[in-house]
Amino acid sequence: MRVMSATVLTPQPVPAPPLEKQTTVGNYFVSNYPPFSFWKPENVDEVKAAMNRPPKPGTPLGLYLHIPFCRKRCHFCYFKVYTDKDSAAIKGYIDAALKEFAIYAGKPFIGGRKPRFIYFGGGTPSYLSVDQLKHLTDGMKALLPWDEAAEVAFEAEPGTLTDHKLRAIRDLGVTRLSLGVENFNDHILEINGRAHHSKEIARAYNFAREVGFPQINIDLIAGMVEETGANWRECVRKTIEMAPDSVTVYEMEIPYNTTIYQKMKAEGKLVAPVADWETKRVWVDYAFKELETVGYTVASAYTAVKNPRQTKFLYRDLLWAGADLLSLGVASFGHIGGTHYQNHADFEPYVSRVNQGELPIYRALTPNADERLIREFILQLKLGQLNLSYFRNKFGVDPAQRFAEPLQRLKDWGFLSLEGDQVRLNREGLLQVDRLLHEFFLPQHRTNRYV
Ligand SMILES: C[S@@+](CC[C@H](N)C(=O)[O-])C[C@H]1O[C@@H](n2cnc3c(N)ncnc32)[C@H](O)[C@@H]1O
Ligand code: SF4
Repeated sequence: MRVMSATVLTPQPVPAPPLEKQTTVGNYFVSNYPPFSFWKPENVDEVKAAMNRPPKPGTPLGLYLHIPFCRKRCHFCYFKVYTDKDSAAIKGYIDAALKEFAIYAGKPFIGGRKPRFIYFGGGTPSYLSVDQLKHLTDGMKALLPWDEAAEVAFEAEPGTLTDHKLRAIRDLGVTRLSLGVENFNDHILEINGRAHHSKEIARAYNFAREVGFPQINIDLIAGMVEETGANWRECVRKTIEMAPDSVTVYEMEIPYNTTIYQKMKAEGKLVAPVADWETKRVWVDYAFKELETVGYTVASAYTAVKNPRQTKFLYRDLLWAGADLLSLGVASFGHIGGTHYQNHADFEPYVSRVNQGELPIYRALTPNADERLIREFILQLKLGQLNLSYFRNKFGVDPAQRFAEPLQRLKDWGFLSLEGDQVRLNREGLLQVDRLLHEFFLPQHRTNRYV
């Protein structure tokens, strides 16, 4: 008979599953839960019912408007954008968005609330002319005034900005201007299909500073086609020289609906022509460390902020804490009274639905209590730290128990620590948080691609 030896077993560190090496096609960034592929047309009545209920007391209301127009389609972009619409089509779109808003503005879920935060995203909101912007925002303010909005965020492509337009954007009440800089190298900008050049970055940024926006953010992408370590370091150096209030650094992903993937498919290639994940993480890490050296604070997996006390990002923070988000425009994603919804993703059905006096909602999903808890927990983990008591108080569940397994797994892998009430990710964990979040998903949501 074999006898077990009496050695004491000491826990061995468990290696994390290896990082995917190459950048292949698919979504990486987790922006919501349950995944979009589980939202269904047959659930649309659920969001209509949610609109007819008064809001849960204390729930802030946010507003999102998608402006789907761009000068050019960047080869890496996966957003719903059009580059072929003339001014009549754009006017038709703005009027449709205002009609859509008017339907919502009369519904009980508004409950006397005014928007606390407003976000103009795209596409390129700054593609609109000053007259179009004025018409749009006057119409919006007439439906729900902005006097209680603590933040009005606006995405801009540097080449679309003139001094005159920037002044007008500031006069509309925009508080956070986000510039899609992406890279400072003209060759890299060009071969990635960007419409702007480096000269326009400096010009737009200097105008914006003169105009006096309370917050200017710069978006960068780590891993554009033909990016190199030396060029990336130069991009970080130039960003620091500009001293924006915040810097957002995305790791390049290549979803299915990108021009880069179309080309890969045509050429029978499985690997995208961009840096691998490890290199992209090294580049984001470098950017964060350099920014920290000059006094910035890393405030989430993607952002560094110069003055965290002063510079907030309410859209992110309130949305990730369960705010209602009334989303307008083609393909927009929103969240009302506990139900997720998305609008029609194509221009024609969107505009014609609204013009017929109907809501242009395409699909919806009402997460159950556990799914709502998971959603907020994973979104807040992207900040790098969260408080367990927040979840206990809000959901009446002990998150340390509910998520005991994935929390332990991330601890064993060396990415996470529990310090009293706080769950913290270390830098290594933060830099790969999106793939780690899948550990918290329900089993039925893990197999599906995150699209
Ligand atoms: C809607 S765009 C910002 C505004 C404007 N359209 C522009 O590009 O200047 C939002 C941001 O998403 C990021 N982005 C777009 N496609 C991406 C991809 N495939 N991988 C990573 N980030 C991406 C870019 O940093 C971009 O600035
Ligand atoms: S990255 Fe911005 S400018 Fe480029 S196509 Fe996408 S939305 Fe338009």
